[in-house]
Amino acid sequence: MANRLRLDKLLANMGFGTRSEIKRAVKLGKVTVDGNVARESGQIIEPERHVVQYEGESVVYRDVIYMMMNKPSGVISATEDTRDKTVVDLLKPEDSLLKPFPVGRLDKDTVGLLLLTNDGALAHELLSPKKHVDKTYEALVLGKVGESDIEAFAMGVTLDDGYMTMPGKLVIEEHSDRQGEPCSFIRLTIREGKFHQVKRMFEAVGKRVLTLKRISMGPLRLDDALEEGQYRELTPEEVSLLKGNRQS
Ligand code: URA
Repeated sequence: MANRLRLDKLLANMGFGTRSEIKRAVKLGKVTVDGNVARESGQIIEPERHVVQYEGESVVYRDVIYMMMNKPSGVISATEDTRDKTVVDLLKPEDSLLKPFPVGRLDKDTVGLLLLTNDGALAHELLSPKKHVDKTYEALVLGKVGESDIEAFAMGVTLDDGYMTMPGKLVIEEHSDRQGEPCSFIRLTIREGKFHQVKRMFEAVGKRVLTLKRISMGPLRLDDALEEGQYRELTPEEVSLLKGNRQS
């Protein structure tokens, strides 16, 4: 948690308006610090010590945000893009104030669990290749996925650039037919995050991913109640699970 920051920044971060709107509110005497009317919007505040009130209502300060989104297809996992809509564009303005960013990338056509936070240290830990965080995907695959694929993935497969993947756990959920072509609905858990990894692993065994959805990342599971494009803040329990129960 930030130890010291300007009063106007604190209020702006908490969604009380722009810096100039806040300056005006301070001038109008709407803001108090420890019960005294604030005189200066640039006054330095220690959120853990000072009680700030806006029009008599206490302002609970926080500087980190954690959200899970069920990413829809057609949007980019980035904070900005010159051509396409990004996942951050889907956030309500009040949820963008603390500048969350997506933790890792899902392809434009991939749906499912995406964590958005401004906690750089946590993002770094989750993405670190050394940490081997499990990511589980569900996919509809063109072709009949079988035992030989389960074994190949368990050993690691060689991708088109010669990279040998770490072992992946493949579970076949269902075989079906799509316009006379065999299809397989599968679940795959991998511990790396190479570019297009799941699609390229199936290409390595002569099959094609038709649809891809991430359902978990480490201990975090996608909330079934979230429709594609919807998001919610993580519960304190989910945050603590993600941080490995360490106190921040
Ligand atoms: N693997 C892929 O191929 N695409 C994704 O979006 C995620 C994992």
